[in-house]
Amino acid sequence: MDVQILEDPAKTVADLLIETAAKGGNIVLTGGSSPRRAYELAAERGTDWSGATVWFGDERAVGPDDEHSNFAMADAALLSRLESPPQVVRMQGELGPDAGAGAYEAEIRERLGPEPRWDLLLLGLGPDAHVASLFPSKPEKHVTDRLVVGVPEAGMEPQVPRISLTLPAINAARHVVFLVTGASKRQAVQRAFGDPPDLSSPAAHVRPRAGELTVLLDREASP
Ligand code: 6PG
Repeated sequence: MDVQILEDPAKTVADLLIETAAKGGNIVLTGGSSPRRAYELAAERGTDWSGATVWFGDERAVGPDDEHSNFAMADAALLSRLESPPQVVRMQGELGPDAGAGAYEAEIRERLGPEPRWDLLLLGLGPDAHVASLFPSKPEKHVTDRLVVGVPEAGMEPQVPRISLTLPAINAARHVVFLVTGASKRQAVQRAFGDPPDLSSPAAHVRPRAGELTVLLDREASP
């Protein structure tokens, strides 16, 4: 695990996005508020994304125009601003958590096979150490027989059902990168990446099987 404490971790994420997009890689974006600046910085660089494919790690069970949609945020900050956009495979929150998860699982299997290995998978970290939409108090963190799971009840705000990649799907990626900023995340960082980690925290189970794990923190988030 490579933990880096940086002045501006969003810039490093933007660099990674640009590099992977330029190579035509498969990129998984994260939701939440932390990555917005990274997406905006990446958009400003004007790289050719046309060979790349963009996926999502989790989504709220709402339509793509809803204020809670992770796709809507990524679209506004990054995707709609690109002159040469990538292919985008979004989670269809409007189908509801279970049908939406089933549809995304089928889409992944069709495009990447039963053992997908995304090149770059971005994640945020919740203050409760949740990751994607796998919450400490909910059962979906234990699901190992699927790539995508419906989450009927979120473990924190916004209280809308979710769709989420499972831990085995996340851990199959070639490079998993956490972007974590702000003092409200300090304890979660300790739980997820401390030595020893707190295994009740879903993020403590993000350990790529045959890939790299990078944790990018700002000073406030660093324990
Ligand atoms: C979501 C997320 C979630 C997020 C963390 C951190 O859909 O809510 O993907 O896992 O990354 O909750 O969110 P913030 O960046 O808003 O703190």
